[in-house]
Amino acid sequence: MLNFDFYNPTRVIFGQGRIADLNKRVPKDARVLVLYGGGSVKTTGTLNEVLANLGGRVVVEFGGIEPNPTYETMMRAVEVAKRENIDFLLAVGGGSVIDGTKFVAAAVNYDGDCKDILTSRGMKIKSTLPIGVVLTLSATGSEMNNGGVITQLSSHTKSAFFHERLFPVFAILDPTKTYTLAPRQIANGVVDAFVHTIEQYLTYPVGGMVQDRFAEGLLLTLIEIGPKALANPEDYQLRANLMWVATMALNGLIGAGVPQDWATHMIGHELTALYNIDHARTLAIVLPSMLTVRKEAKREKLLQYATRVWHINEGTDDERIDQAITATRQFFASVGVETSLSGHGVGIEAIDAVLAQLQAHKMVALGERRDVTLEMSKDILTCCL
Ligand code: NZQ
Ligand code: ZN
Repeated sequence: MLNFDFYNPTRVIFGQGRIADLNKRVPKDARVLVLYGGGSVKTTGTLNEVLANLGGRVVVEFGGIEPNPTYETMMRAVEVAKRENIDFLLAVGGGSVIDGTKFVAAAVNYDGDCKDILTSRGMKIKSTLPIGVVLTLSATGSEMNNGGVITQLSSHTKSAFFHERLFPVFAILDPTKTYTLAPRQIANGVVDAFVHTIEQYLTYPVGGMVQDRFAEGLLLTLIEIGPKALANPEDYQLRANLMWVATMALNGLIGAGVPQDWATHMIGHELTALYNIDHARTLAIVLPSMLTVRKEAKREKLLQYATRVWHINEGTDDERIDQAITATRQFFASVGVETSLSGHGVGIEAIDAVLAQLQAHKMVALGERRDVTLEMSKDILTCCL
């Protein structure tokens, strides 16, 4: 096992009715900025429930954070936070709202050009505002991690940033708040959580027995409940398990002490920035091709994945690996998610366009061994067509 630090200070407040705990968790004298997306929290009633539980605190609202939140929008929220002397941020939404809120938390007191936060991957962050979360979409794990992803519209650049101070102070996870999600968003959540797990599991063995078994548990749970969660929108147990799986898939636990890949995510981010394909859908396109092209480098873990996750025990090693990759593709299809670029109407022109973006963003040595060169990314993208 590799050496590691594991640190996660986020209090998870889980279960039906837990929004009532806001009154206990947000400081009584806080000046709160409540941030949300395009309006689902209004139609579902979640925003009203949140406001009611903030009692007499000073509350300012900032709505309109778009999926794949932009720097341009979030800078407007930074202005509001400064003008209103906000000292607590409350994100009510999915990954986009939480990530946008993390950017505001880092930018409000930033002394300089806030784009630095993105270009330095967060290394220049010095002080932040505290963040609380009310989660409405299970997918990214942002509710219990210290990262965010922001798009600069001007340059089609999707940048990740991280900082130890950006863990939310608390995250309220009420599974009933996900009943209103469209099937497309549930499917996205299943795929995103699956690929987060794979990025930290399907690399090369280092003897991380606990991490491997945790990761396999998450993958098996997603395979078991993913299609069911789509078919049964108001099944509490299914939504509760999906919510907890997605949080556990990216809160640092399964990635501690093991190599991590993330090449699928980096290429996927470029596809979102260029073609506006949903984050999870880009991952479903890239991952099967990534595994196919990097079969040799990932051989041992692919065989473990075939046996323990898909129960594939017959055939030669090569056949079992191919079957595991096919099973992965079929799993994404089973929740209605396309696994090719052509399925999104994107053709061969994407290859050069994505390669140019990867080069511009210095994504030229990706993966757990930093051996995913531009040339290899070209092979992967070709396989995605
Ligand atoms: O904007 P509103 O009207 O609220 O609608 C949203 C949005 O259109 C809707 N929605 C959310 N909760 C709902 C709901 N509709 C009905 N009922 C509810 N309860 O869902 C749509 C998508 O929301 P979004 O927040 O964009 O989805 P998701 O949670 O998948 O977040 C995606 C973003 O997270 C980033 C992605 O790159 C992308 O920008 N990621 C963040 C990560 C992190 N911070 O750790 C890691 C991930 O790999 C990912 O990159
Ligand atoms: Zn993701």
